[in-house]
Amino acid sequence: MSRPTNLVNSWNEWDPLREIVVGVADNACFEPTEPGHRPQLRTPDGGSAPFPTGPKPAEMIERANEQLDGLVRLLESQGVTVHRPVAPDLASPLRTPDFQVENQYCVVCPRDVMITLGNEIIEATMSRRARYFEYQAYRKLVYSYWNNDPGMVWTVAPKPSMADSMYRQEFWEWPLEERHRRMHSSEFCVTQDEVVFDAADISRFGRDIVVQESMTTNRSGIHWLKRHLEPRGFRVHPVHFPLDFFPSHIDCTFVPLRPGLVLTNPERPLREGEEQLFLRNGWELVDVPQPTSTNDEMPKYCQSSKWLSMNVLSISPTKVVCEEREKPLQDLLDKLGFEVFPVPFRDVFEYGGSLHCATWDVNREGTAEDYFP
Ligand code: NVA
Repeated sequence: MSRPTNLVNSWNEWDPLREIVVGVADNACFEPTEPGHRPQLRTPDGGSAPFPTGPKPAEMIERANEQLDGLVRLLESQGVTVHRPVAPDLASPLRTPDFQVENQYCVVCPRDVMITLGNEIIEATMSRRARYFEYQAYRKLVYSYWNNDPGMVWTVAPKPSMADSMYRQEFWEWPLEERHRRMHSSEFCVTQDEVVFDAADISRFGRDIVVQESMTTNRSGIHWLKRHLEPRGFRVHPVHFPLDFFPSHIDCTFVPLRPGLVLTNPERPLREGEEQLFLRNGWELVDVPQPTSTNDEMPKYCQSSKWLSMNVLSISPTKVVCEEREKPLQDLLDKLGFEVFPVPFRDVFEYGGSLHCATWDVNREGTAEDYFP
């Protein structure tokens, strides 16, 4: 019997989840230093030490895989179909005509690479060399959607060169005062010369797509998204969080959970005026509580901030998966009327994210609603 059509269908971050991809830690390496990224290892005295290179130790990979597998079990117990990527060799050096990098990273965070917008799957351009070929881990799956869902649209965004000239190296040296001075210019480590975006800078609200300008998404990337998506009936809204001096990926900053409700980061307010789209349409922007860890208390090799606390995954407009230690956030979600599913996930943090990052929803019930008429 042939499989049903409309295998690819997801319009927002909260509709009832039917099918999702959860990353795997197999073959993961430490993320290399490169023009678009400078991983830091904090020392207890507040200094820094050289970041390790090459493959991650087997026991670290095992611990992350246990927690990823735990998330899979939870999702399956909720009736969700789960797929996993196939991790290729990531430890060999990579060379293209424009750059070399000592190793690739991991395939734990499909959210950064792949996005479903209605019946379309887009493979993002990516912004870092070590992640240039990450889409390949999802190709087998994308082909199965392509072969079994005649309505599915498959788009590969233009690959940037990632040559030295694409990056602004001095960005990493700017002192704090310089970052303050520049906070409204939205100029980061990537220049505007090529189309650059990571999928995780996008948040989906039905017909409306919100995109964060960041270290991983430039204005040319947002322009490409506009030109690609607006003729298909979407509206693309650039957003900015000027107090985040190292912005990348919107899902620790601005997290919609159901129609009318976005969780917001109290340390990263929207640029003045950008909240109006939400407020004039009756949406509530609710600040999350402080995370249970400070930045210094995050797992040793984690390069993300303490705000991974708010990187939650919606199973439906009433059910949310949350990291088990984040009790203050769980209490808030409970008060807001959600059923909360706590899971341990801190061993995944050093692979680039938490529950939202480590997933890519391909099918949620629902259609293209207009939440901002
Ligand atoms: N760059 C974000 C993490 C996104 C997963 C942060 O560190 O808050």
